Amino acid sequence: MATLSFKIFRGPEIASVLASLGKLRIAVFKDWPYLYQGSLEYETDYLRIYAHSPRSFLFTVSDGNEMVGATTCLPLADETNEVKEPFLKAGMDLTSIFYFGESVLLPPYRGLGLGHRFFEEREAHARSFGSFKFTCFCGVVRPKDHPSRPLDYRPLDEFWVKRGYQPKPELQSQFEWLDIGDALPTQKPMLYWMKTL
Ligand SMILES: CC(C)(COP(=O)(O)OP(=O)(O)OC[C@H]1O[C@@H](n2cnc3c(N)ncnc32)[C@H](O)[C@@H]1OP(=O)(O)O)[C@@H](O)C(=O)NCCC(=O)NCCS
Repeated sequence: MATLSFKIFRGPEIASVLASLGKLRIAVFKDWPYLYQGSLEYETDYLRIYAHSPRSFLFTVSDGNEMVGATTCLPLADETNEVKEPFLKAGMDLTSIFYFGESVLLPPYRGLGLGHRFFEEREAHARSFGSFKFTCFCGVVRPKDHPSRPLDYRPLDEFWVKRGYQPKPELQSQFEWLDIGDALPTQKPMLYWMKTL
């Protein structure tokens, strides 16, 4: 493994790396529990939301010229309606919440502490505005007996709790995507986790 390099992109700067980020997301999310059959066209379109948000943030890890890890965040108010909806229904003030998008690392780079770094970088960015009280992210909820669940899968819940996050069963969205091997996209329940900054 060559020396890893780290880079921060803010707001419109993110537009320059949408394709690399999309490619990385597809490579990581094809595995359990996401099983995501992604397309680069959809990815670059979806990720534009970050390039359009002036207070968004992307932290990347590169090995040579290849992006091997990345994490994103932006104010919840700049997210899509499907993400904002449960918070609005719960009567929460969107302007006090920073939303954390994906944390993705190619498997050879896991277990080095970069997952912790991803949280530290994003929380520092959210704190830097002085106006956000909470951070949140969501994770897919799959049935425990799903046939594609690897026998040795270790859920990230323990890690998230260690980072100070708590699951919020009252905050859930449905995201639709095509699971690998399926003919049609299906809705998946996404559970939000929150932390007081
Ligand atoms: C989430 C992810 C970025 C974490 O990366 P990482 O660099 O391996 O994380 P770290 O090395 O900082 O380890 C973080 C914690 O994860 C836990 N962990 C380590 N290996 C693990 C494994 N194989 N499975 C589950 N948890 C593991 C440990 O508790 C560790 O904490 P500790 O070192 O304090 O004991 C990486 O696992 C990943 O890309 N996963 C696939 C995508 C995903 O599910 N992302 C999250 C939702 S977007």
